[in-house]
Amino acid sequence: MQRFDLIVSNADIVTVGGRFNADIGVRDGRIAALAHGLDPALADQVIDAAGRMVTPGGVDAHCHLDQASDDGSKGSDDFLTGTRSAACGGTTTVIPFAMQFKGQSLDEAVADYHRRAEGQASIDYAFHLIISDASPAVVKEQLPRMVEAGYTSFKIYMTYESLKLSDREILDVLDAARTLGALSMIHAENDDCIAWLTERLLAQGKTAPRYHALAHSAIGEREATHRAISLSELVDVPILLVHVSSRAAVEQIHWARGQGFNIFSETCPQYLFLTAEDLGIGDDFHGAKCICSPPPRDADSQKAIWNGLANGTFTIFSSDHSPYNFDDPQGKKLHGEDASFDRIPNGIPGLETRLSLLMSEGVLGGRISAERFVELTATAPARLYGLYPQKGTIAVGADADLVIWDNDLDKTLRHVDLHSAADYTPYEGFKLKAWPAWTLSRGKPVWAHGAYCGTAGAGRFLPCAAPFPAQK
Ligand code: URP
Ligand code: ZN
Ligand code: ZN
Repeated sequence: MQRFDLIVSNADIVTVGGRFNADIGVRDGRIAALAHGLDPALADQVIDAAGRMVTPGGVDAHCHLDQASDDGSKGSDDFLTGTRSAACGGTTTVIPFAMQFKGQSLDEAVADYHRRAEGQASIDYAFHLIISDASPAVVKEQLPRMVEAGYTSFKIYMTYESLKLSDREILDVLDAARTLGALSMIHAENDDCIAWLTERLLAQGKTAPRYHALAHSAIGEREATHRAISLSELVDVPILLVHVSSRAAVEQIHWARGQGFNIFSETCPQYLFLTAEDLGIGDDFHGAKCICSPPPRDADSQKAIWNGLANGTFTIFSSDHSPYNFDDPQGKKLHGEDASFDRIPNGIPGLETRLSLLMSEGVLGGRISAERFVELTATAPARLYGLYPQKGTIAVGADADLVIWDNDLDKTLRHVDLHSAADYTPYEGFKLKAWPAWTLSRGKPVWAHGAYCGTAGAGRFLPCAAPFPAQK
């Protein structure tokens, strides 16, 4: 008789392939059996999941943890608090960024982020690279070594002074990605449009946080999205457009996919649940809490993003968790409360709330199926970043990363109940119908009975496989 460390009994299991009822037997951190009537006497622990949906642990493929900066700002979450907060919200794998400073080698960047994560993470993690220096040595010598070592995705910025690459440099990185079978993730906003609009707004005295949404126009996002698609077409390589915010950008992606181009795309909760109005009224500095790039748009874009999630235009749903404390001289108040919008650190918290917001409004709100929820939040990111089938599904042999849901809630989201080190949530007061009752990371509870029960350092580094065949 085979024994189990844990049986999750009577689970309403959701996978991309369908929904079925079974018991889940867990041994040595992996799913060892999916069957009816597993004998509870054969397990050290039994969780009765009767009446509860069980989904794969979330894979959050876009978050910034303990990311270094060169302007004196400091993100709120490191690997300890960020992964704790992820676990409490049902996420069991995170893929933050190892950011290269200009002039730094990728090897140095990766070593730095491993040091930051060491002994801190309570759930498993991989790394994307951020390439800010696309010199021939980086692209031709360092990148192949990185892909070989399990860093198979790179973020490229079309804006931000210290990070942006020229189109020519982007072509070089895309060409390397093609040869290596890696994935380039593109932040698509037109840098000159942002700079030009910012200059005009500031000259007119329009400095309050809310003007960030005007400076980062949907037109600039649309243009850069189309340009990124064109560069990808030219090189004949897949790309992923990250944090897509507007109807105009969704339309470009929809068009490109209709042409048969290999374009993947990501959106985030802020583009479903916030609008530019959340950046404040008048001169209210509290609007800084919702400054992120691209910014939240309007009701029409929210509708287009929901449609894109339902109709398959979007590949993945990530948080883009990049929190800065509001009341902090290294956070949103880096340059004081009178700072103009262009000097306020960009980014908002969202790791812990990503899954419950989408479960509540997407699945229980009747906008997407439970299977599509699983695809967007776990299976597709695991596939796209070379972690599947170890991560992102409920199947024999997969890691026992599971969320057992409470889906009958009338809960009010409050910052005080969350576990990030961020000092606010942009979703304060939102009504939720769902929250994880249990989160299991490799079969071990990290969230149960309303409390965090993970262990710092229990999270393991996951080298990623290259997601695409290498091409000559
Ligand atoms: O404003 C944002 N999104 N900050 C995080 C960095 C990025 O561009 O994803
Ligand atoms: Zn970005
Ligand atoms: Zn980001």
